[in-house]
Amino acid sequence: MHRRLIVPSVLAASLMLAIPASAAARGSAPSDATPGAPGIGDPYYPAYGNGGYDVSHYDLKLKYEPSTDRLDGTATILATATQDLSRFDLDFLLDVSEVRVNGAKATFATSGQHELEVTPARSLAKGSSVTVVVRYSGVPSTKSAYGFSTWHRTPDGAVAADEPESAWWWFPSNDHPLDKATFDVSVSVPDGTQAISNGVLQSQRSKLGRTTFNWRSNKPQATYLTTLAVGKFDITTDTTAAGVPIVNAYSKDLGDNYGAARASVERTGEVADWLSGYFGPYPFSALGGYVPNTTTGYALETQTRPFYSPKQFANGANTSVIVHELAHQWYGDSVSLKGWKDIWINEGFASYAEWLWSESEGQGTTQQLADYVYDSHPADDAFWTVKPGDPGADNQFDAAVYDRGALAIQALRNKIGDTAFFRILKGWPTEHAYGNASVADFEKYAERISGKPLAEFFDTWLFTTAKPAAPAAAAKARIARPDAKPVRPRSWEQIERTHRTVHAH
Ligand code: TRP
Ligand code: ZN
Repeated sequence: MHRRLIVPSVLAASLMLAIPASAAARGSAPSDATPGAPGIGDPYYPAYGNGGYDVSHYDLKLKYEPSTDRLDGTATILATATQDLSRFDLDFLLDVSEVRVNGAKATFATSGQHELEVTPARSLAKGSSVTVVVRYSGVPSTKSAYGFSTWHRTPDGAVAADEPESAWWWFPSNDHPLDKATFDVSVSVPDGTQAISNGVLQSQRSKLGRTTFNWRSNKPQATYLTTLAVGKFDITTDTTAAGVPIVNAYSKDLGDNYGAARASVERTGEVADWLSGYFGPYPFSALGGYVPNTTTGYALETQTRPFYSPKQFANGANTSVIVHELAHQWYGDSVSLKGWKDIWINEGFASYAEWLWSESEGQGTTQQLADYVYDSHPADDAFWTVKPGDPGADNQFDAAVYDRGALAIQALRNKIGDTAFFRILKGWPTEHAYGNASVADFEKYAERISGKPLAEFFDTWLFTTAKPAAPAAAAKARIARPDAKPVRPRSWEQIERTHRTVHAH
């Protein structure tokens, strides 16, 4: 492993001697402090996130130049040391010019694929609060890790929206959903261009030919759900029935997809209100959606303000994808997974929400869609070899996680009955609001609410690499199968998912 030491060691040594009085006031530096781990301990992505500290807040001050893709930034990170810490990592790819820890200059070096190793002037005591300031710049589109980049330039700007990683290209972080934090994101762009991020637009100010947009997300937010889009947008506003302010943004450059994009995303408030009937009150204080002029085919549940590729609207209005991304606000965003293996809680439930929507639109009931998925994959189809409850990093976004995942949810409903099922659907987002939970936690919760032992049931539907035997209820409902199809038009996403570079760990 090649380490590139950025601060010359002579300078580093002299900095070590200069301990400011303010740092001394924080208590004595622990003498047996050790480096924080370079990963948070996720078996799917061992290098993602970091050990030794927990972030509570990120403040990002950014300046972006659409014509050159140059990004300048200062990140101020508030954290607490979770061990006596001699050194810690941040996940980051841009060029760092200075790091300060509790006001004092720190030395830093890069290592691995995306690690920025920070050595504070003095060790940090377990439980102490830590303020890290990172000054940086760079051209994000020139950076890659494991041979890929998730920074997307557009004709008039750029978009950062990806899963499970997008932060490395624009801010230093503890990049794992286990460490959620609040965010203030301030972005300066040339006048006439907008910057979109999560939460509420606190203010927008123009000066000297540039406009600064100040966004605030005031509930815990995972780093991959933190988004940035720069470009020329039309902005619309609205409120939900419950009074949550909505801000939507549409690239002015969507061409023929513009009308369908707007006809879909403008229904955000209606869909969120409808979902809250199943999932309980909407968990955040802002809402919306944005459609940049990007060539990627995805949509992503970026917190409070999902990202939608224009391709999602190539066949006209697509309310399914709105339902899907908004369902994630409860299942995936407010309640985050503990490890990436728990992805079924995100994708299975967001897909099931699409089935509920389909039923309410008269396009096929949840049972009919479950039967369709069950019947359209014969027993020897590779579909059944992917375990939704632990699909493996390379199959994290396989169709089985979505469709077999939603089928498992319909099977659960048939097994425990509607009363317990809908109590679970609504209770779970409250039980773990703004926190993290695993598939194992869900199993325990479902057993508690239903009063039924479900270990064997979950083994069959989530953890078996074979087609489960048809459950009685599903078999009955199959008598009159409509020509309803799973309503999510997933061709673009599936193609991209399948062809995506497999991560080298
Ligand atoms: N979570 C996204 C969804 O289902 C899909 C997704 C998986 C994705 N990997 C991605 C989106 C990478 C953008 C980039 O809505
Ligand atoms: Zn999803």
